[in-house]
Amino acid sequence: MENEIHTGTNRTGMKVSPADARKLLEVRELQTTMPDPEVDAVALRAAYLAEAGPVGSMPPPPTLRGMAGTAMKALAGKKMHVLLDKIAERAAFERTGTRLYDMMLQKVAVAPALPAGMTIDGVREIRDEEHSHYLLLAAAIETLGADPTAMTPCADVTGVQGMGLVQAMGEPRLTIAQALSTLLAAEVIDNASWELLIDLAQQFGQDELVAQFTEALAAEQRHEATVRQWMATALTEEAGL
Ligand SMILES: [Fe+2]
Repeated sequence: MENEIHTGTNRTGMKVSPADARKLLEVRELQTTMPDPEVDAVALRAAYLAEAGPVGSMPPPPTLRGMAGTAMKALAGKKMHVLLDKIAERAAFERTGTRLYDMMLQKVAVAPALPAGMTIDGVREIRDEEHSHYLLLAAAIETLGADPTAMTPCADVTGVQGMGLVQAMGEPRLTIAQALSTLLAAEVIDNASWELLIDLAQQFGQDELVAQFTEALAAEQRHEATVRQWMATALTEEAGL
């Protein structure tokens, strides 16, 4: 398989050189008598935590219809912007998911071999479903009278979280199994987040959205199972089992 991991010249562990390891520990010992830079870092972070405000804010409802909806829910003591923020978060993450699968498609297209059972079409099917989820969520935001192009606080946070996944997937040296583990991380987040979003939409009485979101969750459950299966096969093959 492409980029198979071999036993090689990795010299990163301390056990490679016990003598150097001893010296390193001696230096660490010496450092305990010196001012600890970590203490300063903790104090600095505490100051930031004490002063920090929220990550961004929600935009005001842009349409009359949206205002009416918001006002209506506000009367019932519900804050529609909390639901909108979480839908926008899901939209942002599904967009990241689409990018991750686009990168995977490019990778599998040039891979000399794939784990048994894994196909390009199978990857493309999941990619297309991630994309359709994004479109569904953008439409849901419109339905609720809000602007799907607005960057909301939770969308911002999930975008930053997803950067690590995109960064990992962008590494050309990744094995198929390593790329699959990146996708699996995204799928686990997908599943938990859709479940939470469905619960929230239910509490807002958005029955139509709940029905659509439940279909999306069923697709995500398939994604997770499929990626997990591909990964299990990749690992079995890699380990020569
Ligand atoms: Fe997914």
